[in-house]
Amino acid sequence: PKYPTRQACLLPALWMIQQERGWISELAVAEVAEVLGLTPAYVKGVVTFYTMYHTHPVGRHFIQVCTTSPCGLCGAEETMRALLQYTGCGDLGATSPDRRFTVVEVECLGACGFPTPVLVDDDFHESVTPDRVPGLLARYE
Ligand code: FES
Repeated sequence: PKYPTRQACLLPALWMIQQERGWISELAVAEVAEVLGLTPAYVKGVVTFYTMYHTHPVGRHFIQVCTTSPCGLCGAEETMRALLQYTGCGDLGATSPDRRFTVVEVECLGACGFPTPVLVDDDFHESVTPDRVPGLLARYE
């Protein structure tokens, strides 16, 4: 009753699936489409449009780092490289061998005055520098 149409609950439905399963598979896309009376193509289009939805399994902790120009000028690339190194992810979008972390770069996180901003799951961290990365990651054992 909170939503005027079935289609209106698409985003929350996808979010619920991701919270339960960790990511949104092709099967989940088909399930949501059937329940909401939409086509799988429409649902997949929504899933792939929003970067907050995972279309493949990710680590237990999902790390987003802003590397957009203002943060980039203040050293975001070095912070991102430190995150890739200390997590063991190696590459952006890859998951660490211990399945703890996945690191991705994102566009502006709305904290341009505090480079480099890093979002770990729902926790926001400002002014992250390469030397702060090990301490930051230690909070997510
Ligand atoms: Fe990095 Fe805005 S450009 S938070």
